[in-house]
Amino acid sequence: MIYLDNAATSWPKPENVYRAMDEFLREHAGNPGRGAHSLALAAERVIEETRSLVARLINAPERDRIILTFNCTDALNLGLKGLLKPGDHVITSRIGHNSLVRPLNKLEGKGVRTTRLPPCSDTGFLSAEDIEQAIDEKTKLVAVTHASNVTGVVQPIEEYGAVVRRHGRVFMVDAAQTAGIFPIDVQTSEVDLLAFSGHKGLLGSPGTGVLYLSHRVELDSLREGGTGSHSELDEQPVALPYRYESGTPNTVGIAGLGAGLKYIFEQGIERIRIHEQSLLDQLLQGLSQIPGIILYQPQDMRRRAPIVSFNLPGWEPAEVGAILDQAFDIKVRTGLHCAAAAHKTLGTYPHGSIRISLGYFNTAQDVESVLQALGKIASSKP
Ligand SMILES: Cc1ncc(COP(=O)(O)O)c(C=O)c1O
Repeated sequence: MIYLDNAATSWPKPENVYRAMDEFLREHAGNPGRGAHSLALAAERVIEETRSLVARLINAPERDRIILTFNCTDALNLGLKGLLKPGDHVITSRIGHNSLVRPLNKLEGKGVRTTRLPPCSDTGFLSAEDIEQAIDEKTKLVAVTHASNVTGVVQPIEEYGAVVRRHGRVFMVDAAQTAGIFPIDVQTSEVDLLAFSGHKGLLGSPGTGVLYLSHRVELDSLREGGTGSHSELDEQPVALPYRYESGTPNTVGIAGLGAGLKYIFEQGIERIRIHEQSLLDQLLQGLSQIPGIILYQPQDMRRRAPIVSFNLPGWEPAEVGAILDQAFDIKVRTGLHCAAAAHKTLGTYPHGSIRISLGYFNTAQDVESVLQALGKIASSKP
């Protein structure tokens, strides 16, 4: 079996992730912060260790500013709905994932105004000048997607961060497709809200995500309840990170996420990126040889995540995906990839595309196999 759907969720996981989750459930699975017995304390240690590793990954100044969520969608919802009030203005792009688009659409229904900027058709970049020009007196937030989960284009968030900071607004980045693959420094990029998944590039378990919160932002909590601390209070405690983490967390998933992060630090992000880049180069080179193939990517791809979207002439994306799965045991994603807005921008709505997304455990042989399979499919239809 060849798995090429790492943008949806990475698989397989490093061995130490499987081990950490198994060991956690058997040996440390108390309820963190809820009780002073050794099993509860052991669970708390695992959670706080993971929080520290996440802080290290993105150079967050304090570990308590790392909010552990259930996925990137959860993190984006908390950031957007916790921040925005009726009358606020938001600037975003037209290439976002539904996890960003749908909460914003809902907020628009409650009186939040949104400007959606198109990316440049040559570079795929959102222009920092366009962002600056769109800022008005009501603009509270600029929310961008770091890497598109359709084209893979990686936006220059450092440039946007500088503009947003100069204007004293809040800067949010959806890093679902870059965390663990590209270096991200929330301090030098002036990011106030960084949302990402734990189960994609961080190689952890499903059911994990992160929202980093800078000292410049305060959010309303979206969920109130038991936090394991300040139990005497009738109101939600304001202490970070617990203010936003009510209820029993996904402890076993967080244990896996911590192990995924340790693995990434051991390997080094640069090595991971270089490996994925070399597979991406091989894939793009091979795809370009398939007659008639339509690749959806900007002309001038300076930085891209290991994601490629394309179509074969005469084939529905879903047909190709089904043949790859059933005849070749190769797993790719087809359709809209939860990003209808991006497909409308690319002109591939409503059928979408075939998407190959590479991971650290893919090999040159995997890429060769999918290229051969696609070559056979492409030549089999009159
Ligand atoms: C750009 C982007 N944002 C957000 C998400 C949502 O991530 P999650 O499934 O962890 O909620 C995805 C998932 O594919 C994504 O690609």
